[in-house]
Amino acid sequence: MSEKLTSQMAIDMEDKYGAHNYHPLPVVLARGEGPFVWDVEGKRYFDFLSAYSAVNQGHCHPRIIEALTEQAKILTLTSRAFYNDALGPYEKYITSYFKYDKVLPMNTGAEADETAIKLCRKWAYDVKGVEANKAKIIVCEGNFHGRTTTIISMSTDPDAKGGFGPYTPGFEIVPYNDLPALAKALEDPNVAGFLVEPIQGEAGVYVPEDGYLKKAFELCKAKNVLFIADEVQTGIARTGKLLACDHEGVRPDILILGKALSGGVFPVSAVLADDDIMLVIKPGQHGSTFGGNPIAARVAVTALQVVKDENLAEKAEKLGKIFREEMAAFDSEMIELVRGKGLLNAIVIKPKNGKEAWDVCVKMAENGLLAKPTHQHIIRFAPPLVINEDQLREALQIIKASISAFDAMEG
Ligand SMILES: Cc1ncc(COP(=O)(O)O)c(C=O)c1O
Repeated sequence: MSEKLTSQMAIDMEDKYGAHNYHPLPVVLARGEGPFVWDVEGKRYFDFLSAYSAVNQGHCHPRIIEALTEQAKILTLTSRAFYNDALGPYEKYITSYFKYDKVLPMNTGAEADETAIKLCRKWAYDVKGVEANKAKIIVCEGNFHGRTTTIISMSTDPDAKGGFGPYTPGFEIVPYNDLPALAKALEDPNVAGFLVEPIQGEAGVYVPEDGYLKKAFELCKAKNVLFIADEVQTGIARTGKLLACDHEGVRPDILILGKALSGGVFPVSAVLADDDIMLVIKPGQHGSTFGGNPIAARVAVTALQVVKDENLAEKAEKLGKIFREEMAAFDSEMIELVRGKGLLNAIVIKPKNGKEAWDVCVKMAENGLLAKPTHQHIIRFAPPLVINEDQLREALQIIKASISAFDAMEG
């Protein structure tokens, strides 16, 4: 009989046979349902990361899993060399859902960002009239758009970027949430696009000032520059609206989605735009073997339908307020700041006696709640949006008790 895999065995195997490109919390998960996950020893946790906001609809949502398994029995992959009977209906559905003329389907968030960059550059040459190879895209300090070579070329994070050069040119970096800096950068007639996260998730849930997105959009319009929103993390109900840009009534020229587009069951990403932009890409100029595959198509339709049917945006808005109110009222030496929108929130931790955000996360895991530090002192809290109010209040007790344990220590 084979030996039962323990958490320690699984950790040791990953350490020995896997590349060391992650530093996970020492928890080995074996099952998930709704807002919960269980480790291999059967201990239950609240999942307050949701796979970086991919699992907005909750773990193993029965309707999404049914779409996945039913389609998997019939047809999984055709490539785009042929048509398939799931892609067209998905394209019709998602374009009417987000109100754009066209969608370009990809798989990961990084691929969708790469797609948006190519689309923007091609538009600059074919439509705006920028001289060949001169197009520039403005991005923000602290951005996170993925891990490809071009994307890290515009990163300001030394861990993400350092040691991987030479880098792709064509990007100009401005401070986030700084309209005068953006206006200045937009003076260059070669600027083709402004690529921005409506809230910087990976950087630590940085929420810009009210009005920033709207004003930035207007500045871009005045200079015939495409406003490109990376809503891979903020989109699909996470921040209390379908899109984070909806908080300011901004409709991006190019919209980038990923993660929760599949409810976290499958890599599905998408770029949406109207015809005057999307049709600059012609056959053979861009693509992906798996992009637009029938499983992805069926899964995405169901995942988006679940968001509407279960009012997940409204839930995120309501429960997010409770989260921030409760945490702001909680008195602790270790909490410097609580910020966020909807159910995308963060707490900035003030280290105490050498104990940092990582130690708080380890303590919360012991107490049955999983969250992960982003950068040294910030913990992001992003539960699946299917969490109910009672569950959220139970989770808040775990978070508070875990932080209090450090407050109680002498020092
Ligand atoms: C805003 C944003 N864009 C892009 C990505 C990259 O997505 P993926 O990891 O699926 O490539 C992420 C991932 O965290 C993200 O937060």
